[in-house]
Amino acid sequence: MTDQPKLRWGILGAARINERLLPAIVEARNAELVAIASRRPGAAAETLAKYAPGQKQISAYDSLECLLEDDRIQAVYLPMANEEHAEWALQAIARGKHVLIEKPMALTVADIDAIKAAALERGVTVMEGFMYRFHPQHARVRELLASGLIGDIRFVRTSFSFQMRPARMYRLARDIALGGGAMWDIGCYAVHTARMWFDDAPRAVTAMTHTVESGADISTSGIIDFGGGRRAHFDFSFECTRRSEYEITGTLGSIKCPTVWQLPGDVPEIQWWTEDGRRGEERLKPANHFVLEIEGFSESVLTGRPPLLSFDDARANCRVIVAALESAATGRAIALEP
Ligand SMILES: NC(=O)c1ccc[n+]([C@@H]2O[C@H](COP(=O)([O-])OP(=O)(O)OC[C@H]3O[C@@H](n4cnc5c(N)ncnc54)[C@H](OP(=O)(O)O)[C@@H]3O)[C@@H](O)[C@H]2O)c1
Repeated sequence: MTDQPKLRWGILGAARINERLLPAIVEARNAELVAIASRRPGAAAETLAKYAPGQKQISAYDSLECLLEDDRIQAVYLPMANEEHAEWALQAIARGKHVLIEKPMALTVADIDAIKAAALERGVTVMEGFMYRFHPQHARVRELLASGLIGDIRFVRTSFSFQMRPARMYRLARDIALGGGAMWDIGCYAVHTARMWFDDAPRAVTAMTHTVESGADISTSGIIDFGGGRRAHFDFSFECTRRSEYEITGTLGSIKCPTVWQLPGDVPEIQWWTEDGRRGEERLKPANHFVLEIEGFSESVLTGRPPLLSFDDARANCRVIVAALESAATGRAIALEP
């Protein structure tokens, strides 16, 4: 028997991503899944039967409000459609719940500010769910950078693409303004990861999108200018072959991670090469970043320590995304005020 304190979780929505998150909450050493809710009758129970079979102690609600009224639940995981994140995060916070919000936290900076204000007032922890940040491979890359291996960073390239399966095409049914398309779904990772390696605020953004009839982008590429010749190049697509990688290029070498926003079974690798002819390749132990994210967030709430990702980070990411969409719509580079 262990005395490990556990954070009691509820899941707000029978979303498809529960395939990854629900088992992660069940597996996490410091979490306990209490309930899942859906607005569609039977969908919560169906999701439980699929991803936590035999776990009869977990409740299934056919109402999101019922879950929010459940006093056993301390923290809520919010995997709803992108345009619903802000509204339901505010509702959960109002009931005193800590909230892990799937990326993107919200579609506007104003909504993120409202979530932050509400969270501070209620004294609850809220974080945007970028699970990949909990994977140990990025800490290892940081060690390599700190050793001076590749000198000073000049460029970061992030690329995320795959051929979207027809069953998942619902992501393209909504306009970008309503949270549809590749930018809000996978582009937010490419932007987030690019920003991670520059400890600085971006100065300007430029982007081009290929959109479908609904107004959703299916492929986008762009540049984020961090000043002093330092730039991030990002591209992402639902109609290209699979890539899930970043490359950091410095004055003396490059570091590449070819599997970043990983799927189960992917082996995390780090490759590097330098100006003076050295090369290296490291294979890390596979790690489930969804479990690590749940454990990290639970730990923050249980110990009162700030979560890994801050409101400022969510705000900064949203600003870049909104500016990139404006650039794509206007054909201009968009300056970002400091
Ligand atoms: N971290 C990751 O790797 C990752 C991966 C994919 C997506 N995401 C994020 O996770 C969130 C959810 O994405 P998703 O693709 O899993 O969303 P989704 O399946 O479309 O679910 C979104 C919401 O729509 C409702 N819904 C689900 N299936 C439905 C159906 N068949 N018909 C009608 N309504 C349905 C659910 O609410 P009710 O149950 O209340 O009806 C659910 O909460 C998004 O914010 C997305 O950006 C994250």
